[in-house]
Amino acid sequence: MAGNIYIGEVFRNDEIRRDFFLMKIRLPVQFDRPRPGQFVMARIAGLQDPFLSRPFSIYAYGRGRGGCAIELLYRVAGKGTRILAGLIRGSQVEISGPLGTGYTVDPTKKNIVLIAGGIGIAPLSLLARELRRTNSRAADAVTVYLGARTGEALVGLEELKASCGNVIFCTDDGTLGEKTLVTKAFRRDLKKYDPADTALYACGPKPMIRSLAGLLKDEYVCQVSLEERMACGVGACAGCVVAVKDAAGNKAYRRVCADGPVFNLKDILWE
Ligand SMILES: Cc1cc2nc3c(=O)[nH]c(=O)nc-3n(C[C@H](O)[C@H](O)[C@H](O)COP(=O)(O)OP(=O)(O)OC[C@H]3O[C@@H](n4cnc5c(N)ncnc54)[C@H](O)[C@@H]3O)c2cc1C
Ligand code: FES
Repeated sequence: MAGNIYIGEVFRNDEIRRDFFLMKIRLPVQFDRPRPGQFVMARIAGLQDPFLSRPFSIYAYGRGRGGCAIELLYRVAGKGTRILAGLIRGSQVEISGPLGTGYTVDPTKKNIVLIAGGIGIAPLSLLARELRRTNSRAADAVTVYLGARTGEALVGLEELKASCGNVIFCTDDGTLGEKTLVTKAFRRDLKKYDPADTALYACGPKPMIRSLAGLLKDEYVCQVSLEERMACGVGACAGCVVAVKDAAGNKAYRRVCADGPVFNLKDILWE
């Protein structure tokens, strides 16, 4: 679905950790309430270089009388994000969205488990906030496994702890939390989670998602948000396709921007 395009105003753009930024953008009131897992395409208004917008998950959302605001939590990865990092309060950004499908939330499950790697925390934080906003019981049912390479890259931890009861965090090098991979921390607890009574949500780098696919038996339902390089962001260029199993079990291709970014982990084909 093609999202509407809005001109937003940067309200804050702070480097919260080295190379990690939190940008708050004021938007017109018409910007729809996003579903957790939906994203926006962002670029600097009026700037032709870089020409293409960049995709970012919506990390937080708020609505007031005069308008609404979104927050993006982002890591400087290359040219586009470096330029975004230089924006000051009052700068204008072109925002297209909310885009994509988002997570399907089932707050009735006894266990709601979120597994995040690195900046994959962004869409899952919005999910945690939404569960808290809409269902107080769900907030207690949520367990988050959050991992990053180092303590410096473990962003969003304190905010997450404010939204849900149980946050287990770890780093690859042991500089914060336990020294282990997030998938290993989750695997250790897996037998606690009855597949019939557990909803799993994940976002992180491809090796993490692939490792989850390896350890989860078919009876678990795990919704994962995928990251692919995107050009148009609205399903028009086929630049972001991934291979999946369709309903009949045949190989098919889906666009991450328009058919995702959230997919059922079982459906993803690892080529
Ligand atoms: C649906 C979606 C949601 C995203 N949400 C966030 C978010 O909340 N926060 C955040 O920091 N990033 C997020 N990303 C990734 C972000 O879009 C890229 O980091 C950004 O586009 C890089 O742009 P750049 O011009 O700075 O880097 P480029 O110069 O384009 O690339 C720099 C490096 O990053 C790699 N890269 C570029 N795009 C991606 C990508 N999509 N996935 C993985 N690696 C990539 C390139 O291969 C290259 O190595 C998301 C991506 C998608 C598809
Ligand atoms: S980025 Fe163009 S189809 Fe997905």
